[in-house]
Amino acid sequence: MELENIVPWGRNFAEYRDMFVLSGEDLQKEIIGCGDGPASFNVEVTQMGGRVVSVDPIYAFSAEQIAGRIDEVAEVVMAQVRQNTHRFVWKNIPDPDTLYTIRMEAMYRFMEDYEAGKSAGRYVAGSLPELSFDEGRFDLALCSHLLFLYEKHLDLAFHEAAVLEILRVADEVRIFPLVTLENRPSPHLEPLMKFLTERGYTCEVCKTDYEFQKGGDTMLRIC
Ligand SMILES: C[S@@+](CC[C@H](N)C(=O)[O-])C[C@H]1O[C@@H](n2cnc3c(N)ncnc32)[C@H](O)[C@@H]1O
Repeated sequence: MELENIVPWGRNFAEYRDMFVLSGEDLQKEIIGCGDGPASFNVEVTQMGGRVVSVDPIYAFSAEQIAGRIDEVAEVVMAQVRQNTHRFVWKNIPDPDTLYTIRMEAMYRFMEDYEAGKSAGRYVAGSLPELSFDEGRFDLALCSHLLFLYEKHLDLAFHEAAVLEILRVADEVRIFPLVTLENRPSPHLEPLMKFLTERGYTCEVCKTDYEFQKGGDTMLRIC
């Protein structure tokens, strides 16, 4: 994977907590974050005494390379947000300037932790639909802003393979959001739920308090 093709953009612990309706009990669990990128969820939970392993292709790159790429994309992403403010709900985050501050703080926090976290095995380079972990290694898997969102890049077959693989290594999976980049309900949601239900899994669409993309206020919970 080329770093030029990746848009590193990371959220923080409070956003993960609200997107995935994480309880105190959830935070005691062994968690895998699939596609965590430069989010600060891992470092923040680790500092609280929790256990998170993040998997992302971006972790194949050095801290210097990732930091350079974050600087390159930040202005581009922010320009797009400013041109499309009507497509977002300015509730949890009041305005684009605050969004920029929150995102950069989260990504700098990740960057500060990156080398230590990599040495400790908390940041593992890898790409769905394959995971290099033993069966049942994790209690809970979280996947933020990858599946469903990139519906044009990742087809239904990819979603099926990726979620089955995550369910191989984790007892429960939570995915957020369930809308595409254009804020439309993902066309993969219903067929994926049917596919999983036929294989004996329980799927539940849960409302969240978090909504930034308009209509992106639900997550999928699979057990
Ligand atoms: C929009 S970012 C979201 C980052 C983080 N989850 C968050 O919400 O702040 C999407 C992430 O998915 C990662 N990604 C892309 N393809 C992937 C794959 N096949 N398996 C795992 N992660 C992937 C990217 O490298 C990027 O870090």
